[in-house]
Amino acid sequence: MKTKRGISIEEAALLLLENEVVAFPTETVYGLGALATCDEAVSKIFAAKGRPSDNPLIVHIGSAAQAGQAVSAIPDTARKLMDAFWPGPLTIVLPKQAGLSQIVSAGLDTVGVRVPSHPVALALLQRVNLPVAAPSANVSGRPSPTSARHVADDLDGKIAGIVDGGASEIGVESTVIDCTTCPPVILRPGGVTRAQIEAVIGAVALADSLREMQDAPKSPGMKYTHYAPRAPLIVVKGDAALFRRTVTQTQAAGKRVGVLVTEENKDSYQADVIRTCGRADDPASIANRLYDALREFDQYELDVIYAEAFSAEGLGEAIQNRLQKASAYRVIED
Ligand code: TXA
Ligand code: MG
Repeated sequence: MKTKRGISIEEAALLLLENEVVAFPTETVYGLGALATCDEAVSKIFAAKGRPSDNPLIVHIGSAAQAGQAVSAIPDTARKLMDAFWPGPLTIVLPKQAGLSQIVSAGLDTVGVRVPSHPVALALLQRVNLPVAAPSANVSGRPSPTSARHVADDLDGKIAGIVDGGASEIGVESTVIDCTTCPPVILRPGGVTRAQIEAVIGAVALADSLREMQDAPKSPGMKYTHYAPRAPLIVVKGDAALFRRTVTQTQAAGKRVGVLVTEENKDSYQADVIRTCGRADDPASIANRLYDALREFDQYELDVIYAEAFSAEGLGEAIQNRLQKASAYRVIED
């Protein structure tokens, strides 16, 4: 299939309405969209990504008023979250509307739904006026795409078109919160922080997998390796001396080493490839750069990549979660 690059919102809408899959920008990462009401269209998403069919997709709508097309009930907590954070990077898991394709939710009777805030995504969704399923527009297992070029690198020839809306502003995916339970449970940390959510609806729970940093039963996406660059990634938790020692010993063993560090530390280390990822005192700048930096390492022949352990405060909770998955939980500690 020939992928049309740089298509307009109108072209993208028409392709979606013809049951094709189209990548489009959101404020978090690029999404790979298809009509959530159509089995044929949704199955094309799974095929293009190589995504396991038991991993449910997020459904995107153009406004909270459209929620009835995707979900069958909206409890009070969910309504408050919609009012506070939509449009924006919060996905709310609710009982599923019967009109949606069964494939979207991998057979579950719940569905994750969100209204993105990116103006291009909003315009597209409002034009289509039907719920659009859209996981991140990467090949399954790869870092999520934060630019149209990332999407093309992964999916050129496999999808109908790509809308280019520039770089994604936030850079990590939406927070996923399950509002079918009391208290609601955060299944995936993301662009909206736990503190922001608790300021609106009070205490929430964290999925067991997030507390224990293990594989998760409830959000099926947690059980696959995600976000991984081609060379193995290892998080180094400790001071600069430990980081330097780790790099030196690995190079002494004849291996080529990449390092992922914050701006503040870039001159403290020597390695075969050094990539910076925002400022330590500004988690938003790290989130914004993280996936691009992980993808950049793939241009080099590397045996291993060592990453700084960034702060886990606020948005750092999402950053740490993605690094843990990208590294398959490999950590070197003092
Ligand atoms: O920021 C985002 O959320 C991006 C943009 C494109 O909107 N989308 C995204 O979708 O990250 P995806 O499919 O890559 O991640 C969906 C996550 C997975 O971890 C999945 O398991 C979880 O949401 N999820 C979706 N529906 C669910 C459900 N009904 N119950 C539990 N978890 C669900
Ligand atoms: Mg994804």
